[in-house]
Amino acid sequence: MTYVVTENCIMCKYTDCVEVCPVDCFYEGENTLVIHPDECIDCGVCEPECPADAIRPDTEPDMEKWVEFNRKYSEQWPVITRKKDPMPGYAEMDGKPGKLDAYFSEAPGEGD
Ligand code: SF4
Ligand code: F3S
Repeated sequence: MTYVVTENCIMCKYTDCVEVCPVDCFYEGENTLVIHPDECIDCGVCEPECPADAIRPDTEPDMEKWVEFNRKYSEQWPVITRKKDPMPGYAEMDGKPGKLDAYFSEAPGEGD
């Protein structure tokens, strides 16, 4: 199994998760992060660190789409291991529905 980043990270990107990952398997896009499913060792320590509750285990229902999403972009984006400021307007965006269709950017983030 693996953990994955899901929709509510988009436009929030708190980055609390990256500091606790023992294998540095978070990758940064312009407005969200992803986890590389083949690098994640399923330790679970990142899940409670996310203020947006965006990190889920792939054992939950309907996670296949998110595993493929995380795999695809982790192979294109730079690694991120250090916490940075969340996105501008993160508080208003936290919990907003439809963020994947409305806001997701395929552009890479800056990484570390
Ligand atoms: Fe990293 Fe563990 Fe989270 Fe996987 S579950 S991304 S290994 S902190
Ligand atoms: Fe995103 Fe949560 Fe990490 S909002 S950047 S998965 S702490």
